[in-house]
Amino acid sequence: MTVEVRPITESEWPAFAAVDYETFNSSNPPVAADRWRELVEIDRSLAAFDGDVMVGCTSVYTFSMTVPGGPIPVAGVTAVGVLASHRRRGVLTSLMTRQLHDLHDGGEAVAALYASEAGIYGRFGYGRAADNFFFRIPKHGSAFVRTAPSDPALRLRVAKPAEELAAFRTVFDAVRVSRPGMYARSDPRWRHEVLADDDHDRRGLGPLRCVIAEDDDGPRGYALFRVKPGATDHDVPDGELRLSELFAVDPAAYAMVWRSVLDRDLCSRVFAWNRPVDDPVIHLLAEPRHLNAGWVDELWVRLVDVDRALASRSYTAPADLVIEVEDQVCPWNAGRWRLTTDKASCERTDDPADLTLPVEVLGAAYLGGRPLTALAGAGIVREHREGALRELSTAMSWDPRPWAGLVF
Ligand SMILES: CC(C)(COP(=O)(O)OP(=O)(O)OC[C@H]1O[C@@H](n2cnc3c(N)ncnc32)[C@H](O)[C@@H]1OP(=O)(O)O)[C@@H](O)C(=O)NCCC(=O)NCCS
Repeated sequence: MTVEVRPITESEWPAFAAVDYETFNSSNPPVAADRWRELVEIDRSLAAFDGDVMVGCTSVYTFSMTVPGGPIPVAGVTAVGVLASHRRRGVLTSLMTRQLHDLHDGGEAVAALYASEAGIYGRFGYGRAADNFFFRIPKHGSAFVRTAPSDPALRLRVAKPAEELAAFRTVFDAVRVSRPGMYARSDPRWRHEVLADDDHDRRGLGPLRCVIAEDDDGPRGYALFRVKPGATDHDVPDGELRLSELFAVDPAAYAMVWRSVLDRDLCSRVFAWNRPVDDPVIHLLAEPRHLNAGWVDELWVRLVDVDRALASRSYTAPADLVIEVEDQVCPWNAGRWRLTTDKASCERTDDPADLTLPVEVLGAAYLGGRPLTALAGAGIVREHREGALRELSTAMSWDPRPWAGLVF
């Protein structure tokens, strides 16, 4: 089978969307395709063709994503799919390879994605950089610690989400620049991915609702959520509040918004599916065992160009060492690089290596949330100079922990 991979044209957009929906088993109505079209960048969308038939797809969103030190351009890889008729014949490999070569030829130094399954992208040099922390807090176990902050200047307001984009944006933009992994949202992304509220967006839950914590100067926090109504056989209210997102710019507003969703009348629990692993609510709860928490992989990160990427972020501590990178998909990265963090420089060198690692390890550690020492414990990093592993692991670590918060 010969497959051609090339960018699509505008007229091929319906076929592109159809391949994506087919591969994801989606039942998206036309309105969803129209909304998605507003987000998709046609000139950054690749398709694989078997003759005239489109059999695979992928695209890139142009993101400004926070990394340690602040926002940088990042390629948000999305819409990856291959038709069942052509699976396991290397179509994804062709798409990923072409996409990474295109990025190397004048695109972003870093790519990031959400994976439908964790086993797919390591072979293409993506490392698991962030985790999705999820939990279900029962109302009876939701009391706060005595020291929970409050501010008498704050008021809680119930509002209509569709009318509050400016308030959400104020809070969100203040928060996103300090947490690695968070990315700026365009207006269409807010409208179509965060605030969309048609029947199919609700997936059997109630409408999108919100509460806003504010003072005389404006909004300081908000929560967006849906309620799945319910009751026991004895008619005891048993609804579940499903949190879509919750952000606040300060601890008192954060506590107020959380308290509001946890106390929601006629609900007996809050389910939060995608939260950062260092969510402060862990420390607000007097009895954190009631979190009933779990975690799965969230963002996967790929250093397209190791030198540009490592020079684009900040570091927690000084490091000056030589890293030998293994990279079969992007051979321009393979070999030895000297990273000098106080100059934020990463340059080719012939000096002997202090560490050897596959490129996906650098992707996993890039946002600061994956200690290299743990990866070395799994046998993935090899240390040649004693102390080099801890030096790089400490330098690359970052606070707060990485998290994107919104699937793309
Ligand atoms: C995942 C998907 C894109 C793979 O496409 P494909 O063309 O079959 O992949 P390839 O043939 O290029 O596979 C390359 C390698 O990845 C492996 N692989 C592919 N899909 C995998 C998966 N879901 N889990 C683990 N490994 C996988 C293949 O076995 C192959 O391994 P090998 O090199 O050791 O032989 C395709 O199955 C699909 O569209 N799935 C449904 C939609 C989806 O999940 N998309 C990903 C969104 S993030």
